[in-house]
Amino acid sequence: METVTTIAAVRERVRRWRAEGRRVAFVPTMGNLHAGHVSLIEAARRHGDRFVASIFVNPMQFGPNEDFAHYPRTPAQDARMLADAGCDLMFMPDVAEIYPNGSERATRVEVPGLSSILDGEFRPGHFEGVATVVAKLLHIVDPDVAVFGEKDFQQLTIIRRMVADLCLAVAIVAAPTVREPDGLAMSSRNQYLTEDERRTAPVIHGALLAAVERLRAGDRDFAAIERSGLEALERAGLRPDYFSVRRADDLSGPDADTRRLVVLTAARLGRARLIDNLQPGT
Ligand code: PAJ
Repeated sequence: METVTTIAAVRERVRRWRAEGRRVAFVPTMGNLHAGHVSLIEAARRHGDRFVASIFVNPMQFGPNEDFAHYPRTPAQDARMLADAGCDLMFMPDVAEIYPNGSERATRVEVPGLSSILDGEFRPGHFEGVATVVAKLLHIVDPDVAVFGEKDFQQLTIIRRMVADLCLAVAIVAAPTVREPDGLAMSSRNQYLTEDERRTAPVIHGALLAAVERLRAGDRDFAAIERSGLEALERAGLRPDYFSVRRADDLSGPDADTRRLVVLTAARLGRARLIDNLQPGT
């Protein structure tokens, strides 16, 4: 695997592959990789024959009181994991490479509506930062396929909408959430948990499972399902931001006839803010 830090170097490699008739698959990340990220490279293998991963902790998607400065950065370990997973090219730019005029005043991509609900309500500007950096990375790498995790279901929904709205010529592939044996969704932010908190954290998956079971059984009292979810999290000592049943297609409120549903939640536990979701159909 080769590591590059400049846009020019990525473009040169990808152009060469294209000229050879290769299909390029891309996995954007913020690094500090775990098995969830590696599963995206494995998913990418089914859709391409050359693989690019980016590692960039994007300042634009962090709020002023969030963990940008402390976000775990483990580039050497990340490079080993990507190489082992069969990645061909690791793109690790610095902030000035991606934001030559600074991230504060840079041109932005906004996906209205979808970006201000659920997580967007609690993290103003977050999804604008995500959409902006993903649009830039897609322009830089110019892949045939880009892979994103269902772990960040709202992010995936927003990226699909952005790609459609901007008529980008890339196929977006979703990969399922990879979990710890006790059900906790893998996340770089799980490291912020103390041992006690780590033992409590699987209650998030438990609450989602309970909600999904009710939906599968035909229960359509969404408000009651949401209340039970919030109560389960609060009883365990978490501070939930939301626990919400939505349409999987556009995250709007469902009705009794909605076929594809998703249950999404975000909750604070100690220093960590954890998000997760589950679909009754899967
Ligand atoms: P990051 O949190 O590093 O995640 C990178 C990708 O890995 C995302 O598509 C995310 O959904 C996926 N992922 C994370 N944990 C996962 C898990 N347990 N199972 C499956 N997939 C998982 O998401 C971001 O970075 C950034 O917002 C980014 C898209 C790179 C833009 O900066």
